[in-house]
Formats: sequence, C-alpha cells, structure tokens
Amino acid sequence: MAGSPIIFPRGREIVLGVSAGIAAYKSCDVLRRLQDHGFLVTVVPTESSLNFVGKATWQALSGRNVHTSVWENSAEVSHVALADRADLIVIAPATADLISRLAQGRADDLLTTTVIASGCPVLIVPAMHPQMWLNQATVANVELLRKRGFTVLDPAVGRLTGKDSGIGRFPETKIIIDKVLELSNSVAVLMNRKVLVTAGGTIEPIDPVRYIGNRSSGRQGLAVAYEALRAGAEVTVIAGQTDYFELEGARVLEVETAEEMLELVEAEFSSHDSLVMSAAVADARPVSSAEGKIKKESFTKIELLENPDILASIGKLKRANQVVVGFAAETESNLVELGRDKLVRKGADLLYVNNVAQGAVFGSDSTSGALLSVDGSSEFFDNVSKHEVARRIVNGIAKRLELVNG
Ligand code: CTP
Repeated sequence: MAGSPIIFPRGREIVLGVSAGIAAYKSCDVLRRLQDHGFLVTVVPTESSLNFVGKATWQALSGRNVHTSVWENSAEVSHVALADRADLIVIAPATADLISRLAQGRADDLLTTTVIASGCPVLIVPAMHPQMWLNQATVANVELLRKRGFTVLDPAVGRLTGKDSGIGRFPETKIIIDKVLELSNSVAVLMNRKVLVTAGGTIEPIDPVRYIGNRSSGRQGLAVAYEALRAGAEVTVIAGQTDYFELEGARVLEVETAEEMLELVEAEFSSHDSLVMSAAVADARPVSSAEGKIKKESFTKIELLENPDILASIGKLKRANQVVVGFAAETESNLVELGRDKLVRKGADLLYVNNVAQGAVFGSDSTSGALLSVDGSSEFFDNVSKHEVARRIVNGIAKRLELVNG
C-alpha cells in the first residue's frame, strides 16, 4: 500500500429534503428509486415533517444519520458539508410554507440553510391543497423561485387527502425520477443489472512475512465499479490488494490469493449479469507457503506453480445471457491483434488492451489502449482517464446485455 492515498471520485450525492405534507410517505419510494439509480441519498426532513414520517424510517432507508437542525451536529457544520457534497437537492414534498421560506431566502432550519449554502441544482416537488397552490402568494413565490433557476414541478391533478380533488397531488415517482435524471445528466443503463468486478492485485504468500505481489493499484477496477454503480447496477467487488478503497454502495469481498479469488468468482458469477476481470492475478504462486519465517540463509530459491487463469475458466462457464470483460497489458505494437487473440482464447465478450509500452499504467490515473468487442469492433483511447475507459466499458456491457438478453 505504498504512496499517498488516491482521491477516488465519490458517488453522486442527493440531498432529499422533506417538508410537512402527507405526501412525505410517498417520498420513501422516491428515496428507494433514487438508490436504484445509484444515487447516495442524505435525507433532510423539516422538524414538523417528522409528524408524518419519523427519523428512524429515513435513517433505516438511507443508511445515514438524519438531522433537522443545524445545532444537532455543529462540529461538522452539517449545512455546509451537505451543501458542498450535494450534486442535486430534491425537495419532495415541498409545502407552501417551505416554498415561501425558500423564496425569501430564509435559513431557519437545516434544509433551508443547506439550500442557501449550495450551488447545485434544486428540484422542488410541491404537494398541497389546490387553494394553497393557487393562492397568489404561492404563485408569486413559485414564479420567483423559477426565475432564480430552481426547477419547480407542477403538482398533479386528482384526488387529494380529504374528500376533494384538484391540482396539488404529489406527482408520480417516475415523473420525479425522470426529472432527477435529466438534471443530474445521468442515464441508468445498467438498472436492474448485477455486475461483478475484480480489482487490485493478488498476493501469494511465501512465508508469514513475505509474498509475491504486483504493482496493480486497483484503480481501473474501482473505476469500473464506480461507473457501474452510477449506471444503476448492483455491484459486487472482489478486491485483492488496492491502494485505496472507499466505494459506498458496493458489496465488497476481500481476498488475498488467486485461488481465493477464483473460488469467490466461481461462487458469485452465476448470480451476476456481467463479470469484469480487472484484477492483476499473479500468474504463479510458491509451491508451498512456509509456516515459519524463512531464515535469510535459506531464502535463495522460490519454487513456483502456475496459478489458475480465472478469466479463461469463467469464460467456459459463461451463459449466453452473461457478458464477460477481460483486460490485457501488452507492450508489442500489434496490440489489437494480441488483444483479440486473448479475447477469443479466454472467452470474453469485451477486452480492454492496455498499451504499456511507454511505461506506467500501473498506479497511474490515465491509460492508452483499445476496447475490443467480440463483434469485431474496436475503440481506441489515447492518454485518457481510467474513468473514461470505465464509462465506455459500462456502456459496452449495457449494449451487449441488451443484445444477448433480447
Ligand atoms: N487473468 C486471470 N487469471 C490469471 C491471469 C490473468 O483471470 N491467472 C485475467 C486478468 O484479470 C485479465 C486477463 O486475464 O483480465 C489478461 O491478463 P494478462 O496478464 O494480460 O494475460 P495473461 O493471460 O497473463 O498472458 P500474458 O501475461 O502471457 O500476456
């Protein structure tokens, strides 16, 4: 784990503000669907909205602490931290009172303070009684907010909480989510898909102190996992040794050796739609690992045994509706030819071949190479970020999954 920690991009963050309308209970579903799309959500309810849905519900659903007041967590200066971190603020439901407070630029609770401290887009989803929505004060407040760049959805028309009906209903969840996707500029191409990613290098013990390892940082695999999460997939990461690891939202299984990795990949593969084999698996391991530390006088020779090729063995187990992605590192000029040969030999559908002729790909954040597909197409990359390649891989998986699943 040499070197300084690498800053890994965090997932897209949404602050979900909830004000005191009966539709607060419908916002629980909005939260769930946002999570389906890979968003990480912090819920900020107003104090009075807790009469409809309590803190415990929001905390359990979001998996995060929930506060209503700036005084609850003052050491962290929550409103600034939340405002800085948010990629989007969604307020659902927004009552007439909250809309009025936002229009005045007030900062009298955690939610309004967060809004005023943030620079990200804000989506307001009003829900209230028709007279309140049509009241001139509300009409003027909404107009003002829209003029200032807030996106305010129109409420739906239909049955309301009491006996009456009209405009003021909380819009359908799908309408809200579509707006969120539009504002956050993201498309969940792997929605309802499960992706298994291996990342980092395996280590093969020589004795309790020493091991054979490699220079893999795990960045490329983590970038694929991150982009798959962003695309709405459920992600499992089987991680060997990596430089840095913080990937909220993924299920992470840690391993050391190639054999452990093979065992886990075999156990997990059938329940996933896709496998991305970005781990740098050690090609060989010591024939045996000594129980005690080998004394330096005897430490002269390590007898090696070839490790199983995980990608090749999984290629054979692959169902027609699964997509397998491999990687390759080549130094020769006939990069594409070598990559294509590896793709076919190991039964992969896609393969990213890294050009390592000019040196450092390991530990670096950029890469040059080609993404090859079993359909014969290839896409070339010249000194791009590993995230760019990860995004193309995720799109490639989505396209192929669609093709092979009809
Ligand atoms: N791989 C694997 N198991 C191994 C070795 C490699 O699953 N024991 C996978 C890697 O995760 C990668 C792909 O195979 O997706 C290609 O790895 P690479 O090292 O380029 O190929 P090798 O098969 O080791 O061939 P060579 O080093 O001889 O080029």
